[in-house]
Amino acid sequence: MSKKRVLSGIQPTSDSFHLGNYLGAVKQWVELQEGHDAFYCIVDLHALTVETDPALLRKRTLMSAAQLLALGISPEKSTLFVQSQVPQHNQLGWIMECMTGFGEASRMTQFKDKSSKSGADAARVGLFTYPMLMAADILLYQSHLVPVGEDQRQHIELTRDIAGRFNTRYGQTFQIPEGFILKQGAKIYDIQDPTSKMSKSSGSGSGLIDILDAPEVNLKKFKSAVTDAGREVKFDTIEKPGISNLLTIHSALSGKSISDLEYEFDGKGYGDFKASVAEVVVEYFRPIRAHALELLEDEAHLLAILHQGSEKARSVAQATLESTYKNLGVVL
Ligand code: TYM
Repeated sequence: MSKKRVLSGIQPTSDSFHLGNYLGAVKQWVELQEGHDAFYCIVDLHALTVETDPALLRKRTLMSAAQLLALGISPEKSTLFVQSQVPQHNQLGWIMECMTGFGEASRMTQFKDKSSKSGADAARVGLFTYPMLMAADILLYQSHLVPVGEDQRQHIELTRDIAGRFNTRYGQTFQIPEGFILKQGAKIYDIQDPTSKMSKSSGSGSGLIDILDAPEVNLKKFKSAVTDAGREVKFDTIEKPGISNLLTIHSALSGKSISDLEYEFDGKGYGDFKASVAEVVVEYFRPIRAHALELLEDEAHLLAILHQGSEKARSVAQATLESTYKNLGVVL
């Protein structure tokens, strides 16, 4: 039996990925390379939906590639590529827009949240059509599994709806994908405000943990992480959202179960626990950060990996685009 296809994407919108990106998504990307046919995409076109600086976009695309490699994505096992280097994404994106209702797109909560910040009139049209481009990213590769964080669940549902509708109307064309979303860790919270998700676009910055930040910076952030009333280290998302978030982070990186951690810190208080989380995070990312910075020194090598990935992605994407056009009645 042929291997199941996996696809996911990440935006190059920051110099560093944050802990939420890693725990909610990229950690699963690395695991799913084994035994699957994995395609991972740096979605630079999605990054254009907000104001961008050309020099920064270029730098961050390369930094994203370096981080993915340092985090364990292997170009031998996975196809790592840049979205804009595969024009079929835009071509299928248009078809996806033509298959989506305006009302359906208007219900996307990420668009509502992001556009409400400066008013819907100021939002780019690309921010509105963003989920349809994401549907194209997924469907072009006939993907079975899409490893993402909780915040992408609604976009995957939309993708499934569009794919099902297209198949019913025009004949079997797309694999219906499934989200691969963790039960624990699919939503990592800001460590200063554990009721909001950790995010590069919101929050104060002091609650955001960037994996490329210097160890001293992250040690300090964890030591001042917000805790909850009481002094017991116990997983309880309602009464103790701060401690629960830190337990989730510790457990995902140390490999210890939450109940083992509760037992280990029984009677020890928040200070000791926070120091332990800080150490686990910093030591986990120390070699990864060094490796990413080293990879960034050889731009030609990074570009070669991305070009090779994009070439492979184009051939898979073209086959899906052709069958889509054929089923639609486009003259080929
Ligand atoms: P992006 O670039 O915002 O985030 C990349 C991945 O990180 C996850 N994530 C989180 N997980 C847990 N806790 C958090 N606080 C947290 N913050 C972010 C996201 O869920 C995501 O999986 N629309 C996508 C990019 C995309 C895509 C695709 C994904 C474009 N095309 C096709 C999958 C398939 C996004 O904005 O991710």
